[in-house]
Amino acid sequence: MLVVETIDKLHAFLAEARAAGKSVGLVPTMGALHEGHASLVKRSVKENGVTVVSVFVNPTQFNDKGDLERYPRTLEADCQLLEALGTDCVFAPTVEEVYPEPDTRVFDFDPLDKVMEGVYRPGHFNGVAQIVSKLFMYVEPDRAYFGEKDFQQLAIIREMVRQMDFKLEIVGCPIVREADGLALSSRNALLTPEQRVTALAISKALFTSVDYAKEHSLEETKQMVEQAIADTEGLELEYYEVVNGDTLQPVAAWDDADYIVGCITVYCGKVRLIDNIRYK
Ligand code: PAJ
Repeated sequence: MLVVETIDKLHAFLAEARAAGKSVGLVPTMGALHEGHASLVKRSVKENGVTVVSVFVNPTQFNDKGDLERYPRTLEADCQLLEALGTDCVFAPTVEEVYPEPDTRVFDFDPLDKVMEGVYRPGHFNGVAQIVSKLFMYVEPDRAYFGEKDFQQLAIIREMVRQMDFKLEIVGCPIVREADGLALSSRNALLTPEQRVTALAISKALFTSVDYAKEHSLEETKQMVEQAIADTEGLELEYYEVVNGDTLQPVAAWDDADYIVGCITVYCGKVRLIDNIRYK
């Protein structure tokens, strides 16, 4: 497995792969890798001639400097995992390599970026679009892999591909969870053992709500999830939105859309956790 820090070296690797007629899969990550990331890498390795995994904590998508500083960085362990998974090339650039000058591009994904994370993390998706579009330009992958864990991000990246006319396939991959239900996240590493237990209430509320939804209105189901979080000491709800899975706009009743997803963001202490569940 090759580990490169520069775009030139990345291009040299890709030129060889292309010359050999190999298709290219890209898995963008911010490192601190876990089984959720691994599921994306495994899928890419299966579906492509070569797989490139980027490991880059992208500063432009952090609207909170403390969050950026606290973000776990574990490149050595990440490379060990990636090698075992059959990754061909890890692209781990410095901030200067990716942003030799400030990226002033402004994206507009209206209405997808006007709700949920778009409200609570202003500028976040602009930063995500900046880095992901750069990665697509550097790598020109045939396929790029993203997790449904970041449901809104996946929708926005699909929209960016449409707007910018990137010739590639976006592959959405299901959420990987711990055996007890907690969605895997690099941020879970920041939880104390007690918080780790507290955080379980999030996925539990979502799972319970799927059955509850069968006999209750959307509004009642929403309230049930909000109440479950409010009743858990140590958790603070930022939002729970039940949305049309395509447009991400809130829906008022179960009959209002064919594809409905509940998206939640909860603070467990200082750690911001997100999760989602599909209702239909
Ligand atoms: P990061 O949080 O490292 O996630 C990288 C990819 O792994 C994303 O597509 C994310 O949805 C996926 N992922 C994370 N946890 C997962 C889980 N439990 N199950 C399935 N997939 C999971 O998302 C980012 O980085 C960044 O915003 C990035 C796209 C790399 C741009 O900087």
